Amino acid sequence: MTQDEMKQAVAKAALEYVESGTIIGIGTGSTANYFIDYLASIKHKIEGTVASSNASTERLKKHGIQVFDLNSVSEISVYVDGADESNRHLHLIKGGGGALTREKIVAAASRKFVCIADESKLVDVLGKFPLPVEVIPMARSYVARELVKLGGQPVLREGFTTDNGNVILDVHNLQIMEPVKLEETLNHITGVVTNGLFARRPADVLLLGTKDGVKKID
Ligand code: A5P
Repeated sequence: MTQDEMKQAVAKAALEYVESGTIIGIGTGSTANYFIDYLASIKHKIEGTVASSNASTERLKKHGIQVFDLNSVSEISVYVDGADESNRHLHLIKGGGGALTREKIVAAASRKFVCIADESKLVDVLGKFPLPVEVIPMARSYVARELVKLGGQPVLREGFTTDNGNVILDVHNLQIMEPVKLEETLNHITGVVTNGLFARRPADVLLLGTKDGVKKID
């Protein structure tokens, strides 16, 4: 099985978590894209979706799937999204696609978070994948200096602006032993919008694509 086939397999398996007549939270990235494509086959079953990026909104609309503004819905039954890394506690690093802030908001507003990923994403310790931090543009240098004090090596994601009009600093060289604590520490730096650690609100279920099929970790 190729990596792409594993992504497709977990995206398909996530359909099991789609409850009839409810609103579904939609992530961003190549695995979430497969989920959107599968969701199109049962679109008549759901009330609609809330998307975590402009890119996912466009893809959903192309399939004729209704997309709501988060402020106009009172409940999202499940949020389905990929990840850049997950540990066994289902703490995640996300934001490789730069959509971390909206992803975190939709995840927070959802009853259940189902993470879908191929097996390469499962790690013992988070941090090999550079941790994305979304930053208000005028605070970029200040925040970068603060990140260095915490032992990281921030690199500006060149030529990239988030859907919220901000920049991303990708922080290298972090060995994240205490994800909840680091998530809070980073979010307290003035100028940080949010960071790509999903530890205070981890995934509830990880569907992992492996060569032997889809494994469920919860
Ligand atoms: C988007 O900002 C990210 O959080 C994605 O969820 C993450 O990068 C996973 O992407 P793939 O599904 O493309 O691996």
